[in-house]
Amino acid sequence: MREVGERIVEIREVVMDQQVLHDIVAQAVRAPSIHNTQPWRFVAYDGVIELWTDPARGLAVLDPNGRARHLSCGASLLHARVAAEAAGYDVDVVLQPDPTEPEHLADLRLRSGAAAGRKSLADAVSARHTERGAFSPEPVTPDVVAALRNAAEVEGCWLRVVDSSDDETAVAVLLTRADAIERADPAYLDELRRWTGHGSEATDGVPASAVPDADPSRRGSNFLLRDFVTDRGPATVPDVSNDPPPVERPLVAVLGTEDDDVASWLAAGQGLARLLLTATSLGVAASPMTQPLEIPDTRSRLAAELGVVGHPQMLLRLGYASDDVPPTAGDQTPRRHVEDVLNVTED
Ligand SMILES: Cc1cc2nc3c(=O)[nH]c(=O)nc-3n(C[C@H](O)[C@H](O)[C@H](O)COP(=O)(O)O)c2cc1C
Repeated sequence: MREVGERIVEIREVVMDQQVLHDIVAQAVRAPSIHNTQPWRFVAYDGVIELWTDPARGLAVLDPNGRARHLSCGASLLHARVAAEAAGYDVDVVLQPDPTEPEHLADLRLRSGAAAGRKSLADAVSARHTERGAFSPEPVTPDVVAALRNAAEVEGCWLRVVDSSDDETAVAVLLTRADAIERADPAYLDELRRWTGHGSEATDGVPASAVPDADPSRRGSNFLLRDFVTDRGPATVPDVSNDPPPVERPLVAVLGTEDDDVASWLAAGQGLARLLLTATSLGVAASPMTQPLEIPDTRSRLAAELGVVGHPQMLLRLGYASDDVPPTAGDQTPRRHVEDVLNVTED
């Protein structure tokens, strides 16, 4: 009887672990990724979750060296860490554990016993999303900026706020230039087309519902957001409206790292994800606008113009969503199912 009883206890533990594992990976896949490519997969055994990148989901035109792909995987790693801690585990992370397997990016080793009270960022995972709409005029206050900077620094990154009009002009010019270079490239547009406009059953890509209808170049902002419409063409009908678009004055910031290798890109992804979850928990909305970081010339000029030491990894717009509608599940872009990205093995 005792033997039978022990077996039942054992089975219950395994079943519970599977559910916890499922929940951790479900939160990991909610991370932001370039064009919602979700270029990751997970292997789990015996208290270890391995994070692997999937190069087949890379963007050969926009991201030939895989920087944005690794950054996306780093964001997923941070989500997994936050979820595991919220589930009561201490987490040790080993980056690039096997030099012979470059796609094997990290191991999360889970030990039971995390202190209580580490849930606040996990609570933000389901609400966080990229907000591309206009922000209200309400400024982001210095204490919020300090919290965002701290989130980046905890993960080994720096955060440079674009806070003078000279800096703003430099960033706006480089953003516009990079955007024009990208959109003049038919291969860039082909690639973007493959990751947009998927049907309602899609589990990846950027859906039309996540992107405002208006042409980004007609917005009242110096900072040109990426246009996810690939066949817009030149405007044939002049904009005759007398109402100018609302003026947008977001907080703009660059997140960067000292070096520019795979470890730095993983750090940048974790810094980005911690910053975005912190922003969400403080009611601050955000959207990346990374066109200048995708072209070597505009990326190095961005660093030079801002006088930063190191390498820009992310350019972000932050503010308060103007429609005052709290985030809902409707704001969420789709994700691949946990079963499709997680492989559970014996060891
Ligand atoms: C490295 C990276 C670069 C990104 N660049 C842009 C961008 O230039 N413009 C944009 O609107 N969104 C950008 N995004 C946001 C993704 O499109 C977004 O995370 C993805 O579609 C999933 O949607 P969600 O963030 O709402 O969950 C970027 C995200 C990452 C991780």
